[in-house]
Amino acid sequence: MSVPNHFELLGRDGAARTGRLTTPHGVVRTPAFMPVGTAGAMKGLHWREVRDAGADIVLGNTYHLMLRPGAERIAALGGLQRFTTWNGPMLTDSGGFQVMSLAQLRKVSEKAVNFRSHIDGAAIELSPERAIEVQLLLGSDIAMQLDECVRLPAERADIERAMQLSLRWAERCKRAFEQAPDGHMLFGIVQGGDVPELRHASARGLVDLGFHGYAIGGLAVGEPQEVMLAMIEEAAPILPADRPRYLMGVGTPEDILEAVARGIDMFDCVMPTRNGRHGVAFTPFGPVNLRNARHADDPRPLDEDSDWPSTRNCSRAYLHHLVKSGETLGAMLLSEINIAYYQRLMRDMRGAIADGSFGTFRAQTRAGWAQGDI
Ligand code: GUN
Repeated sequence: MSVPNHFELLGRDGAARTGRLTTPHGVVRTPAFMPVGTAGAMKGLHWREVRDAGADIVLGNTYHLMLRPGAERIAALGGLQRFTTWNGPMLTDSGGFQVMSLAQLRKVSEKAVNFRSHIDGAAIELSPERAIEVQLLLGSDIAMQLDECVRLPAERADIERAMQLSLRWAERCKRAFEQAPDGHMLFGIVQGGDVPELRHASARGLVDLGFHGYAIGGLAVGEPQEVMLAMIEEAAPILPADRPRYLMGVGTPEDILEAVARGIDMFDCVMPTRNGRHGVAFTPFGPVNLRNARHADDPRPLDEDSDWPSTRNCSRAYLHHLVKSGETLGAMLLSEINIAYYQRLMRDMRGAIADGSFGTFRAQTRAGWAQGDI
């Protein structure tokens, strides 16, 4: 049975694309950046600010939500969108990646991944079928297949084993997803580490199975940026041009700009909120560390031309003071400033692709970052 397509390509400029993805909870404009609301909350920001910054879609985590408060409980409370009051499109990651980085005593078998909860030590089994069941209980608009992601550097044999297992799990996830309500989507995840042939085999295997969209996983896990970009170049041409492509867990503004230039449509990353909590702001002049003493007497805002009020109005001296004093507001303001910066970058890229000026935009944006903060 063919898989319905909810993605419409609106324009291309070189390999870069702009489009719209229609989900049960609304439309997502691409290229899109999904702020990460891991446990049903955006760290340091109100949903209102996430929306005002221009985000169409956010990401939630199967792993965290199934452990606490529990998928069945969220379903009984009306689903994740209602529970959180976000009420817009949501993509959920399947849990495999989080098990790898957070859980204790994990063991991967053909059947499932078994692990102990990082919260209370409870023994949990996450199979491909359960990962889909949980994501359907949450009411996720876009569910991800369960996969196994290998940190790099790794032996080719380990990368290949995890990639083949992920392909078999993709098939089981697809079967389990047959009971999903209309309009909900399931994305397959390309694995294969830093080995081009394995990336090709993974992408071909997923395309043969057929998914609503395709993610590229197993990147930004310890490899240099040029390897990440090279792996995108290996995988993207194999993926169907009319389906959305999502680069998981990426990245810096520069990673995102370069991945869009290679045909990626969707991104997620904790970087804007996590770095914000640690006192770092992303700006058109590159990252600015507000902890630095040079800001203590600086009355200038981070960017006087920004359309985001906090970026334009708060002095560097004030942000420095908040961060140095450990005030919650410092983390909140910098998280908000960073999410707004990422969303502005996405909006500007969409505009540049639509009017055929992406090449100029890319060069100018890179020149701004290279100039540095003065
Ligand atoms: N988040 C970042 N990378 C990955 C990946 O390879 N797989 C999954 N499921 N999530 C991710």
